[in-house]
Amino acid sequence: MRVVVGVSGGIAAYKAAELVRALQRQAVEVHVVMTAAAQRFVQPLTFAALTGYKVFTSLWEEASDPGAEQKGIDHIAEAQWADALVVAPATANILAKFAHGIADDFLSTLYLATTSPVLVAPAMNVNMWNHPATQANVATLQDRGVRIIEPGTGELACGMVGEGRMAEPEAIAAAVLGVLGRRNDLAGEVVLVTAGGTREALDPVRFIGNRSSGKMGYALAEAARSRGAKVILVSGPTGLRAPRQCEMVQVTTAEEMRSAVLARMNDATLVIKAAAVADYRPVSVSEQKLKRTGSMTLELAPTEDILAEVVRRRRPGQLIVGFAAETENRMENGRAKLMKKGADAIVVNDVSGEGVGIDADTNAATFLSAATSVEMPEMPKRELADRILDEILALRRPRPLVAEFGEHQDAKTRDEQSAQDRVLSESMPSGAGRRQLIVE
Ligand SMILES: Cc1cc2nc3c(=O)[nH]c(=O)nc-3n(C[C@H](O)[C@H](O)[C@H](O)COP(=O)(O)O)c2cc1C
Repeated sequence: MRVVVGVSGGIAAYKAAELVRALQRQAVEVHVVMTAAAQRFVQPLTFAALTGYKVFTSLWEEASDPGAEQKGIDHIAEAQWADALVVAPATANILAKFAHGIADDFLSTLYLATTSPVLVAPAMNVNMWNHPATQANVATLQDRGVRIIEPGTGELACGMVGEGRMAEPEAIAAAVLGVLGRRNDLAGEVVLVTAGGTREALDPVRFIGNRSSGKMGYALAEAARSRGAKVILVSGPTGLRAPRQCEMVQVTTAEEMRSAVLARMNDATLVIKAAAVADYRPVSVSEQKLKRTGSMTLELAPTEDILAEVVRRRRPGQLIVGFAAETENRMENGRAKLMKKGADAIVVNDVSGEGVGIDADTNAATFLSAATSVEMPEMPKRELADRILDEILALRRPRPLVAEFGEHQDAKTRDEQSAQDRVLSESMPSGAGRRQLIVE
Protein backbone atom coordinates (compact mmCIF):
# COMPACT_ATOMS: atom_id res chain seq x y z
CA MET A 1 0.00 0.00 0.00
CA ARG A 2 1.32 3.42 -0.97
CA VAL A 3 0.31 6.63 0.73
CA VAL A 4 1.27 10.24 0.09
CA VAL A 5 1.30 12.27 3.30
CA GLY A 6 0.72 15.96 2.60
CA VAL A 7 1.98 18.32 5.29
CA SER A 8 0.67 21.89 5.37
CA GLY A 9 1.76 24.82 7.51
CA GLY A 10 0.48 24.41 11.03
CA ILE A 11 2.15 23.86 14.36
CA ALA A 12 1.02 20.22 14.27
CA ALA A 13 3.34 19.67 11.27
CA TYR A 14 5.82 17.97 13.59
CA LYS A 15 3.19 15.31 14.34
CA ALA A 16 3.22 14.31 10.67
CA ALA A 17 6.50 12.54 11.40
CA GLU A 18 4.66 10.31 13.89
CA LEU A 19 1.99 9.67 11.27
CA VAL A 20 4.64 8.59 8.76
CA ARG A 21 6.08 6.18 11.33
CA ALA A 22 2.65 4.83 12.26
CA LEU A 23 1.90 4.10 8.60
CA GLN A 24 5.30 2.52 8.06
CA ARG A 25 4.71 0.25 11.06
CA GLN A 26 1.73 -1.09 9.11
CA ALA A 27 3.96 -1.83 6.09
CA VAL A 28 2.71 1.19 4.14
CA GLU A 29 5.16 2.86 1.75
CA VAL A 30 5.06 6.60 2.35
CA HIS A 31 6.03 9.64 0.28
CA VAL A 32 5.77 13.15 1.71
CA VAL A 33 4.72 16.43 0.12
CA MET A 34 5.22 19.68 2.03
CA THR A 35 3.79 23.12 1.38
CA ALA A 36 6.09 26.13 1.62
CA ALA A 37 4.51 27.07 4.95
CA ALA A 38 5.02 23.55 6.31
CA GLN A 39 8.73 23.91 5.66
CA ARG A 40 8.76 26.84 8.09
CA PHE A 41 7.82 24.42 10.85
CA VAL A 42 9.70 21.21 9.95
CA GLN A 43 12.66 20.57 7.70
CA PRO A 44 12.02 18.34 4.66
CA LEU A 45 15.12 16.44 5.75
CA THR A 46 13.15 14.94 8.66
CA PHE A 47 10.73 13.27 6.25
CA ALA A 48 13.42 12.38 3.72
CA ALA A 49 15.28 10.55 6.50
CA LEU A 50 12.13 8.77 7.68
CA THR A 51 10.93 7.71 4.24
CA GLY A 52 14.25 7.29 2.45
CA TYR A 53 12.68 9.18 -0.43
CA LYS A 54 12.87 12.75 -1.65
CA VAL A 55 10.31 15.13 -0.23
CA PHE A 56 8.23 17.07 -2.73
CA THR A 57 8.35 20.75 -1.84
CA SER A 58 7.70 22.67 -5.04
CA LEU A 59 6.11 22.30 -8.46
CA TRP A 60 9.02 24.09 -10.02
CA GLU A 61 11.96 22.01 -8.89
CA GLU A 62 10.80 19.23 -11.17
CA ALA A 63 10.29 21.60 -14.11
CA SER A 64 13.76 23.11 -13.78
CA ASP A 65 15.33 19.66 -13.50
CA PRO A 66 16.83 18.79 -16.92
CA GLY A 67 15.98 15.10 -16.34
CA ALA A 68 12.32 15.87 -15.65
CA GLU A 69 11.18 14.97 -19.11
CA GLN A 70 12.46 11.42 -18.89
CA LYS A 71 11.16 10.94 -15.31
CA GLY A 72 7.72 12.36 -16.02
CA ILE A 73 6.00 15.14 -14.14
CA ASP A 74 6.31 14.56 -10.41
CA HIS A 75 2.93 15.81 -9.24
CA ILE A 76 1.12 13.68 -11.83
CA ALA A 77 3.35 10.70 -11.17
CA GLU A 78 2.72 10.99 -7.42
CA ALA A 79 -1.03 11.36 -8.00
CA GLN A 80 -1.01 8.06 -9.85
CA TRP A 81 1.43 6.34 -7.48
CA ALA A 82 -0.66 6.95 -4.36
CA ASP A 83 -3.32 4.51 -3.18
CA ALA A 84 -4.41 7.31 -0.84
CA LEU A 85 -3.53 10.92 -0.04
CA VAL A 86 -3.72 12.05 3.57
CA VAL A 87 -3.12 15.67 4.55
CA ALA A 88 -2.07 16.10 8.17
CA PRO A 89 -2.13 18.71 9.43
CA ALA A 90 -4.57 20.28 7.00
CA THR A 91 -4.58 24.06 7.41
CA ALA A 92 -7.63 26.24 6.86
CA ASN A 93 -5.80 27.48 3.77
CA ILE A 94 -5.24 24.07 2.18
CA LEU A 95 -8.85 23.06 2.90
CA ALA A 96 -9.99 26.24 1.15
CA LYS A 97 -7.72 25.57 -1.82
CA PHE A 98 -8.93 21.97 -2.14
CA ALA A 99 -12.56 23.05 -1.87
CA HIS A 100 -12.16 25.67 -4.59
CA GLY A 101 -9.92 23.77 -6.94
CA ILE A 102 -6.97 26.12 -6.58
CA ALA A 103 -3.82 24.42 -7.79
CA ASP A 104 -0.90 26.74 -7.07
CA ASP A 105 1.56 24.42 -5.34
CA PHE A 106 2.59 20.76 -5.38
CA LEU A 107 0.06 19.56 -2.78
CA SER A 108 -3.01 21.35 -4.12
CA THR A 109 -2.15 20.33 -7.70
CA LEU A 110 -1.60 16.72 -6.60
CA TYR A 111 -4.98 16.78 -4.86
CA LEU A 112 -6.75 17.72 -8.11
CA ALA A 113 -4.76 15.20 -10.09
CA THR A 114 -5.37 12.12 -7.93
CA THR A 115 -8.36 9.83 -8.22
CA SER A 116 -7.39 7.89 -5.06
CA PRO A 117 -9.19 8.40 -1.73
CA VAL A 118 -8.25 11.60 0.07
CA LEU A 119 -8.30 12.14 3.84
CA VAL A 120 -7.68 15.40 5.66
CA ALA A 121 -6.90 15.91 9.34
CA PRO A 122 -7.65 19.59 10.04
CA ALA A 123 -5.68 21.39 12.74
CA MET A 124 -6.10 25.03 13.59
CA ASN A 125 -7.22 27.63 16.09
CA VAL A 126 -10.78 27.00 17.34
CA ASN A 127 -12.15 30.20 15.78
CA MET A 128 -10.55 29.40 12.43
CA TRP A 129 -12.12 25.93 12.59
CA ASN A 130 -15.55 27.23 13.57
CA HIS A 131 -15.49 29.99 10.95
CA PRO A 132 -18.34 29.50 8.47
CA ALA A 133 -15.87 29.67 5.58
CA THR A 134 -13.86 26.74 6.95
CA GLN A 135 -16.96 24.77 7.83
CA ALA A 136 -18.41 25.36 4.35
CA ASN A 137 -15.13 24.23 2.75
CA VAL A 138 -15.08 21.09 4.90
CA ALA A 139 -18.70 20.34 3.98
CA THR A 140 -17.89 20.81 0.28
CA LEU A 141 -14.94 18.45 0.52
CA GLN A 142 -16.98 15.89 2.38
CA ASP A 143 -19.71 16.05 -0.24
CA ARG A 144 -17.04 15.30 -2.82
CA GLY A 145 -15.94 12.20 -0.94
CA VAL A 146 -12.97 13.54 1.02
CA ARG A 147 -12.80 11.84 4.46
CA ILE A 148 -12.57 14.34 7.28
CA ILE A 149 -10.66 13.09 10.31
CA GLU A 150 -12.31 15.36 12.83
CA PRO A 151 -10.08 17.46 15.06
CA GLY A 152 -10.27 16.89 18.79
CA THR A 153 -11.01 19.29 21.61
CA GLY A 154 -8.39 20.46 24.05
CA GLU A 155 -5.67 22.97 24.69
CA LEU A 156 -4.48 24.40 21.38
CA ALA A 157 -1.00 25.60 20.49
CA CYS A 158 -2.34 29.17 20.34
CA GLY A 159 -3.22 28.95 24.05
CA MET A 160 -6.98 28.76 23.49
CA VAL A 161 -9.05 25.77 24.48
CA GLY A 162 -11.53 24.25 22.08
CA GLU A 163 -11.93 22.20 18.95
CA GLY A 164 -9.13 22.31 16.41
CA ARG A 165 -6.45 19.96 17.71
CA MET A 166 -5.30 17.54 15.07
CA ALA A 167 -6.45 13.96 15.65
CA GLU A 168 -3.73 11.71 17.07
CA PRO A 169 -1.34 10.29 14.44
CA GLU A 170 -2.31 6.71 15.37
CA ALA A 171 -5.98 7.53 14.79
CA ILE A 172 -5.17 9.16 11.45
CA ALA A 173 -3.15 6.10 10.42
CA ALA A 174 -6.09 3.88 11.42
CA ALA A 175 -8.42 5.98 9.27
CA VAL A 176 -6.03 5.69 6.32
CA LEU A 177 -5.83 1.93 6.76
CA GLY A 178 -9.59 1.82 7.06
CA VAL A 179 -9.94 3.61 3.75
CA LEU A 180 -7.40 1.35 2.07
CA GLY A 181 -8.31 -2.01 3.43
CA ARG A 182 -11.61 -2.10 5.17
CA ARG A 183 -13.46 0.35 3.05
CA ASN A 184 -17.20 -0.26 2.95
CA ASP A 185 -17.29 -3.48 4.98
CA LEU A 186 -20.33 -2.02 6.79
CA ALA A 187 -22.08 -0.95 3.59
CA GLY A 188 -25.76 -1.86 3.81
CA GLU A 189 -25.73 -1.98 7.62
CA VAL A 190 -27.74 0.40 9.74
CA VAL A 191 -25.88 0.98 12.99
CA LEU A 192 -27.63 2.50 15.99
CA VAL A 193 -25.10 3.84 18.49
CA THR A 194 -25.89 5.35 21.88
CA ALA A 195 -23.38 7.72 23.44
CA GLY A 196 -22.78 10.07 26.35
CA GLY A 197 -24.30 10.16 29.79
CA THR A 198 -27.89 10.87 30.77
CA ARG A 199 -29.11 13.48 33.24
CA GLU A 200 -31.87 13.00 35.80
CA ALA A 201 -33.32 16.24 37.09
CA LEU A 202 -33.46 17.04 40.80
CA ASP A 203 -34.91 20.52 40.31
CA PRO A 204 -35.04 23.02 37.42
CA VAL A 205 -31.26 23.55 37.50
CA ARG A 206 -29.68 20.48 39.06
CA PHE A 207 -29.35 16.93 37.89
CA ILE A 208 -27.71 13.61 38.69
CA GLY A 209 -25.33 12.79 35.88
CA ASN A 210 -22.04 11.07 35.22
CA ARG A 211 -18.65 11.87 33.71
CA SER A 212 -19.19 10.15 30.37
CA SER A 213 -17.91 12.43 27.57
CA GLY A 214 -19.55 10.50 24.73
CA LYS A 215 -16.20 10.21 22.94
CA MET A 216 -16.28 6.42 22.64
CA GLY A 217 -19.80 6.37 21.19
CA TYR A 218 -19.05 9.21 18.79
CA ALA A 219 -15.87 7.42 17.67
CA LEU A 220 -17.93 4.30 17.00
CA ALA A 221 -20.47 6.32 15.02
CA GLU A 222 -17.71 7.94 12.96
CA ALA A 223 -15.93 4.64 12.37
CA ALA A 224 -19.14 2.88 11.31
CA ARG A 225 -20.01 5.76 9.01
CA SER A 226 -16.59 5.78 7.39
CA ARG A 227 -16.94 2.03 6.78
CA GLY A 228 -20.12 2.57 4.82
CA ALA A 229 -22.89 2.13 7.40
CA LYS A 230 -25.90 4.34 7.80
CA VAL A 231 -25.58 5.55 11.38
CA ILE A 232 -28.18 6.67 13.90
CA LEU A 233 -26.52 8.27 16.91
CA VAL A 234 -28.67 8.65 20.03
CA SER A 235 -26.71 10.93 22.30
CA GLY A 236 -27.01 12.31 25.78
CA PRO A 237 -25.66 15.83 26.36
CA THR A 238 -21.98 16.08 25.37
CA GLY A 239 -19.61 18.84 24.35
CA LEU A 240 -18.90 17.06 21.07
CA ARG A 241 -19.71 18.11 17.54
CA ALA A 242 -22.21 15.83 15.80
CA PRO A 243 -20.37 13.42 13.49
CA ARG A 244 -21.02 14.25 9.87
CA GLN A 245 -23.57 12.32 7.85
CA CYS A 246 -25.04 10.59 10.90
CA GLU A 247 -28.67 10.89 11.95
CA MET A 248 -28.43 12.60 15.35
CA VAL A 249 -31.03 12.14 18.06
CA GLN A 250 -30.36 14.29 21.13
CA VAL A 251 -31.78 13.12 24.45
CA THR A 252 -31.29 14.10 28.07
CA THR A 253 -32.82 11.54 30.43
CA ALA A 254 -32.63 7.75 30.61
CA GLU A 255 -36.32 7.57 29.70
CA GLU A 256 -35.77 9.74 26.60
CA MET A 257 -32.81 7.55 25.66
CA ARG A 258 -35.00 4.46 26.04
CA SER A 259 -37.83 5.87 23.88
CA ALA A 260 -35.40 7.05 21.19
CA VAL A 261 -33.65 3.67 21.02
CA LEU A 262 -36.83 1.61 21.03
CA ALA A 263 -38.40 3.83 18.37
CA ARG A 264 -35.45 3.36 16.01
CA MET A 265 -34.06 -0.06 16.79
CA ASN A 266 -36.21 -1.79 14.18
CA ASP A 267 -34.34 0.03 11.44
CA ALA A 268 -30.98 -1.14 12.78
CA THR A 269 -29.00 -4.24 11.84
CA LEU A 270 -26.57 -3.53 14.68
CA VAL A 271 -27.17 -1.79 18.00
CA ILE A 272 -24.15 -0.61 20.00
CA LYS A 273 -25.02 0.73 23.44
CA ALA A 274 -22.03 2.81 24.48
CA ALA A 275 -24.01 5.38 26.50
CA ALA A 276 -23.62 5.65 30.27
CA VAL A 277 -27.28 5.59 31.20
CA ALA A 278 -28.37 6.47 34.72
CA ASP A 279 -29.31 3.45 36.81
CA TYR A 280 -31.42 5.56 39.16
CA ARG A 281 -33.58 8.65 38.91
CA PRO A 282 -35.01 10.82 41.72
CA VAL A 283 -38.49 9.71 42.71
CA SER A 284 -39.70 13.30 42.70
CA VAL A 285 -38.41 16.39 40.94
CA SER A 286 -38.80 19.69 42.75
CA GLU A 287 -40.63 22.30 40.67
CA GLN A 288 -38.67 25.05 42.37
CA LYS A 289 -34.94 25.28 42.89
CA LEU A 290 -34.05 23.42 46.08
CA LYS A 291 -32.80 25.62 48.93
CA ARG A 292 -30.14 24.66 51.42
CA THR A 293 -32.09 23.72 54.54
CA GLY A 294 -29.78 21.29 56.32
CA SER A 295 -29.17 17.68 55.44
CA MET A 296 -31.25 16.09 52.74
CA THR A 297 -32.01 12.51 51.71
CA LEU A 298 -32.78 11.74 48.09
CA GLU A 299 -35.10 8.89 47.26
CA LEU A 300 -34.13 7.21 44.00
CA ALA A 301 -35.96 4.72 41.83
CA PRO A 302 -34.31 2.40 39.31
CA THR A 303 -34.53 3.32 35.63
CA GLU A 304 -35.50 0.86 32.89
CA ASP A 305 -32.75 -1.50 31.74
CA ILE A 306 -32.55 -0.41 28.09
CA LEU A 307 -30.04 -3.04 26.99
CA ALA A 308 -32.18 -5.88 28.37
CA GLU A 309 -35.25 -4.40 26.70
CA VAL A 310 -33.45 -4.04 23.37
CA VAL A 311 -32.39 -7.70 23.59
CA ARG A 312 -35.99 -8.74 24.37
CA ARG A 313 -37.28 -6.85 21.34
CA ARG A 314 -34.53 -7.78 18.91
CA ARG A 315 -35.56 -8.96 15.52
CA PRO A 316 -33.87 -11.86 13.75
CA GLY A 317 -30.40 -11.07 12.48
CA GLN A 318 -29.90 -8.00 14.66
CA LEU A 319 -26.65 -7.86 16.59
CA ILE A 320 -26.71 -6.21 20.01
CA VAL A 321 -23.52 -5.04 21.72
CA GLY A 322 -23.40 -3.43 25.16
CA PHE A 323 -20.71 -1.66 27.16
CA ALA A 324 -19.80 -2.26 30.77
CA ALA A 325 -17.77 0.31 32.69
CA GLU A 326 -16.22 -1.48 35.64
CA THR A 327 -14.05 -0.31 38.51
CA GLU A 328 -13.42 -3.79 39.98
CA ASN A 329 -13.62 -7.45 39.00
CA ARG A 330 -13.74 -6.33 35.41
CA MET A 331 -13.87 -9.73 33.72
CA GLU A 332 -16.26 -11.41 36.17
CA ASN A 333 -18.66 -8.48 36.06
CA GLY A 334 -18.39 -8.20 32.29
CA ARG A 335 -19.10 -11.87 31.74
CA ALA A 336 -21.97 -11.76 34.23
CA LYS A 337 -23.46 -8.82 32.32
CA LEU A 338 -23.07 -10.68 29.02
CA MET A 339 -24.92 -13.69 30.43
CA LYS A 340 -27.60 -11.69 32.22
CA LYS A 341 -28.44 -9.31 29.41
CA GLY A 342 -28.21 -11.77 26.55
CA ALA A 343 -26.36 -9.37 24.25
CA ASP A 344 -24.10 -10.74 21.51
CA ALA A 345 -21.10 -9.07 23.06
CA ILE A 346 -20.08 -6.73 25.84
CA VAL A 347 -17.18 -4.29 25.62
CA VAL A 348 -15.72 -4.10 29.11
CA ASN A 349 -13.88 -0.93 30.12
CA ASP A 350 -11.80 -0.53 33.21
CA VAL A 351 -12.66 3.00 34.27
CA SER A 352 -10.64 2.99 37.48
CA GLY A 353 -7.35 4.07 35.86
CA GLU A 354 -6.12 7.58 35.07
CA GLY A 355 -6.11 8.65 31.43
CA VAL A 356 -8.22 5.82 30.04
CA GLY A 357 -11.96 5.27 29.80
CA ILE A 358 -14.41 7.89 30.95
CA ASP A 359 -13.74 11.36 29.54
CA ALA A 360 -10.30 10.36 28.20
CA ASP A 361 -9.16 10.34 24.55
CA THR A 362 -7.82 6.83 24.87
CA ASN A 363 -9.36 3.65 26.11
CA ALA A 364 -8.48 0.03 26.71
CA ALA A 365 -11.13 -2.67 26.63
CA THR A 366 -11.95 -6.35 26.51
CA PHE A 367 -14.39 -7.54 23.87
CA LEU A 368 -16.39 -10.38 25.37
CA SER A 369 -18.74 -12.63 23.45
CA ALA A 370 -19.92 -16.09 24.34
CA ALA A 371 -17.14 -17.58 22.26
CA THR A 372 -14.35 -15.03 22.51
CA SER A 373 -12.49 -12.70 24.82
CA VAL A 374 -10.31 -10.19 22.97
CA GLU A 375 -7.99 -7.86 24.89
CA MET A 376 -7.62 -4.43 23.29
CA PRO A 377 -4.72 -2.44 24.79
CA GLU A 378 -4.85 1.31 25.37
CA MET A 379 -5.22 3.25 22.11
CA PRO A 380 -7.05 6.32 20.76
CA LYS A 381 -10.82 5.83 20.94
CA ARG A 382 -11.21 6.21 17.17
CA GLU A 383 -8.78 3.35 16.63
CA LEU A 384 -10.44 1.27 19.32
CA ALA A 385 -13.77 1.89 17.59
CA ASP A 386 -12.45 0.22 14.46
CA ARG A 387 -11.11 -2.71 16.47
CA ILE A 388 -14.50 -3.16 18.13
CA LEU A 389 -16.27 -3.04 14.76
CA ASP A 390 -13.83 -5.66 13.43
CA GLU A 391 -14.81 -7.98 16.30
CA ILE A 392 -18.51 -7.30 15.83
CA LEU A 393 -18.23 -8.19 12.15
CA ALA A 394 -16.39 -11.36 13.13
CA LEU A 395 -19.51 -12.40 15.10
CA ARG A 396 -21.32 -12.63 11.78
CA ARG A 397 -18.74 -14.96 10.32
CA PRO A 398 -19.69 -18.63 10.54
CA ARG A 399 -18.01 -20.47 13.40
CA PRO A 400 -16.47 -23.75 12.31
CA LEU A 401 -18.59 -25.90 14.66
CA VAL A 402 -19.08 -28.60 12.06
CA ALA A 403 -15.34 -29.14 11.82
CA GLU A 404 -15.00 -29.06 15.61
CA PHE A 405 -17.62 -31.79 15.97
CA GLY A 406 -15.96 -33.94 13.34
CA GLU A 407 -15.00 -37.52 13.95
CA HIS A 408 -11.40 -36.76 14.79
CA GLN A 409 -12.23 -34.55 17.73
CA ASP A 410 -11.42 -36.10 21.10
CA ALA A 411 -14.07 -36.47 23.78
CA LYS A 412 -12.65 -33.82 26.10
CA THR A 413 -12.72 -31.09 23.45
CA ARG A 414 -16.22 -32.14 22.47
CA ASP A 415 -17.40 -31.86 26.08
CA GLU A 416 -15.82 -28.45 26.44
CA GLN A 417 -17.45 -27.33 23.21
CA SER A 418 -20.83 -28.60 24.35
CA ALA A 419 -20.44 -26.72 27.61
CA GLN A 420 -19.57 -23.58 25.73
CA ASP A 421 -22.59 -23.87 23.51
CA ARG A 422 -24.86 -24.60 26.46
CA VAL A 423 -23.65 -21.36 27.99
CA LEU A 424 -24.16 -19.65 24.67
CA SER A 425 -27.71 -20.82 24.24
CA GLU A 426 -28.62 -20.32 27.90
CA SER A 427 -27.35 -16.77 27.78
CA MET A 428 -29.12 -15.83 24.59
CA PRO A 429 -32.82 -15.47 23.89
CA SER A 430 -34.09 -17.70 21.14
CA GLY A 431 -34.62 -16.09 17.77
CA ALA A 432 -33.74 -16.91 14.20
CA GLY A 433 -30.79 -14.51 14.09
CA ARG A 434 -29.37 -15.85 17.33
CA ARG A 435 -29.74 -19.44 16.25
CA GLN A 436 -28.09 -18.63 12.97
CA LEU A 437 -25.11 -17.21 14.81
CA ILE A 438 -24.77 -20.30 16.98
CA VAL A 439 -25.26 -22.94 14.35
CA GLU A 440 -23.31 -21.58 11.39
C1 LIG B 1 3.17 30.16 14.12
C2 LIG B 1 2.07 29.87 13.14
C3 LIG B 1 1.23 28.81 13.38
C4 LIG B 1 0.19 28.50 12.50
N1 LIG B 1 -0.62 27.45 12.75
C5 LIG B 1 -1.64 27.17 11.91
C6 LIG B 1 -2.50 26.08 12.16
O1 LIG B 1 -2.32 25.32 13.13
N2 LIG B 1 -3.50 25.85 11.29
C7 LIG B 1 -3.73 26.65 10.21
O2 LIG B 1 -4.70 26.42 9.49
N3 LIG B 1 -2.91 27.69 9.95
C8 LIG B 1 -1.88 27.97 10.76
N4 LIG B 1 -1.06 29.02 10.49
C9 LIG B 1 -1.31 29.82 9.30
C10 LIG B 1 -0.79 29.10 8.05
O3 LIG B 1 0.59 28.78 8.20
C11 LIG B 1 -1.04 29.99 6.84
O4 LIG B 1 -2.42 30.12 6.61
C12 LIG B 1 -0.35 29.46 5.60
O5 LIG B 1 -0.71 30.28 4.51
C13 LIG B 1 -0.79 28.04 5.30
O6 LIG B 1 -0.18 27.61 4.11
P1 LIG B 1 -0.37 26.14 3.56
O7 LIG B 1 -1.80 25.80 3.70
O8 LIG B 1 0.06 26.21 2.13
O9 LIG B 1 0.53 25.26 4.34
C14 LIG B 1 0.00 29.31 11.35
C15 LIG B 1 0.88 30.36 11.10
C16 LIG B 1 1.89 30.64 11.99
C17 LIG B 1 2.81 31.79 11.68
